Amino acid sequence: MKDYPQIRTAIPGPKSRAVVARDEAWTSTSYIKEYPLVVERARGAMVEDVDGNRFLDFMAGIAVAATGHAHPEVVRAIQAAAEKFLHICGSDFYYEGMAALCERLARLAPGSTKKRVFLSNSGTEAVEGAMKLARYATRRTAFIAFKGSFHGRSYGALSLTSSKSKQHSHFGPMLPDVHHVPFGYCYRCEYGKSYPSCGLHCVEILERDLFARHLDPSDVAAIFVEPIQGEGGYVIPPAEFLPALRSLCDAHGILLVCDEVQSGIGRTGKMFASEHAGVEPDIITVAKGLGSGMPIGAFIAKESLMTWGAGAHGTTFGGNPVSCAAALATLDLVEGQYRANAETLGRYLLDGVHRLGEEFAVIGEVRGLGLMIGIEFVKDRATREPHPELVAALVQRAFQRGLLLLSAGRSALRLAPPLVIDREDADIALGLIREILRELA
Ligand SMILES: Cc1ncc(COP(=O)(O)O)c(C=O)c1O
Repeated sequence: MKDYPQIRTAIPGPKSRAVVARDEAWTSTSYIKEYPLVVERARGAMVEDVDGNRFLDFMAGIAVAATGHAHPEVVRAIQAAAEKFLHICGSDFYYEGMAALCERLARLAPGSTKKRVFLSNSGTEAVEGAMKLARYATRRTAFIAFKGSFHGRSYGALSLTSSKSKQHSHFGPMLPDVHHVPFGYCYRCEYGKSYPSCGLHCVEILERDLFARHLDPSDVAAIFVEPIQGEGGYVIPPAEFLPALRSLCDAHGILLVCDEVQSGIGRTGKMFASEHAGVEPDIITVAKGLGSGMPIGAFIAKESLMTWGAGAHGTTFGGNPVSCAAALATLDLVEGQYRANAETLGRYLLDGVHRLGEEFAVIGEVRGLGLMIGIEFVKDRATREPHPELVAALVQRAFQRGLLLLSAGRSALRLAPPLVIDREDADIALGLIREILRELA
């Protein structure tokens, strides 16, 4: 028997309410704050709040706590590194952890081509660096990105992002020469077609329409794509989608950049989601799960692209030695057992979610790879009208009952637990979601 979820006070409890009040008085009004969870400590898939309430975590701090919260081996690696030194600046000096992590990521990346790695502090910075490298290596200026994508919030990454208009509102102008095209989101195909009879129209049309009428492909530096759209709703494109983009890129000398900030590091049951499609990207960005919660990101590029000279790109904190130690310990654990667990438990959880789909007509589509599972809610299965109110109510009620969830996209629930969960965790989450859906229905 698990000792979580366990709700002991009104939610939020008195200590939580005090922290929330203080936070609300002093922090930036731009923070979202999904619900009043005030964390005291967390272990594995359990999060405890300051009032002693225990929650089952099915969002992992937005898909970050890959090895679970405070995995003892990750904590030990952090402590050992911190006792040696906290900082020296990897852009200017050397330490073993940085060399080891770059080698490890370069060897792990899909494909046989030799890679090199740049370490950043975050996913956004990894995307930003990848954009700069793509322009530098190709001497081209334009980028193609997908509607519904999320790549970060600094100006370059934000210019690629096309998830919610409030993320752009009053911040313009964005970077010029970024072109957004429909993603392989078959449940809501912008062309009104059905897969597979569509013949992958969304990729095929790029050649016939975008390149023929509007944008010379020889001006395009890179296509940025999430192999599975994360913030956009955990949307999985058809199996041929990434390979078709790869062919398009090869035909025109365009770089294929896979943003695996959310889908990478074992979450989908493989180290990188692009492996499911059998594609070798030119550049891969990672962050989130890489440090199990310590801030670290990376872009991994083919060696033939990383020809920029010393000083062309750098960072003070990126690849911090303590974060490198956390990342190396994380990779040991994910490669050792948790990637396989994500695959097995992902299948188990997905089966359970499909059963929910049979029971509740408000579930329009279920999709998932490993422990990256999306449930799209609709008002009516025939019209597929999104049901954001239901998703919002479900997330809030789940919190009240001790289950941490997050929405994604317009009307989807994302299940992104730590990769360490077991069947009992999956059953608890499925049981609570079923109970809440019955109440809400
Ligand atoms: C696919 C993807 N790229 C980039 C980012 C930005 O990463 P960060 O928040 O670490 O800057 C995110 C964050 O959600 C993401 O999901």
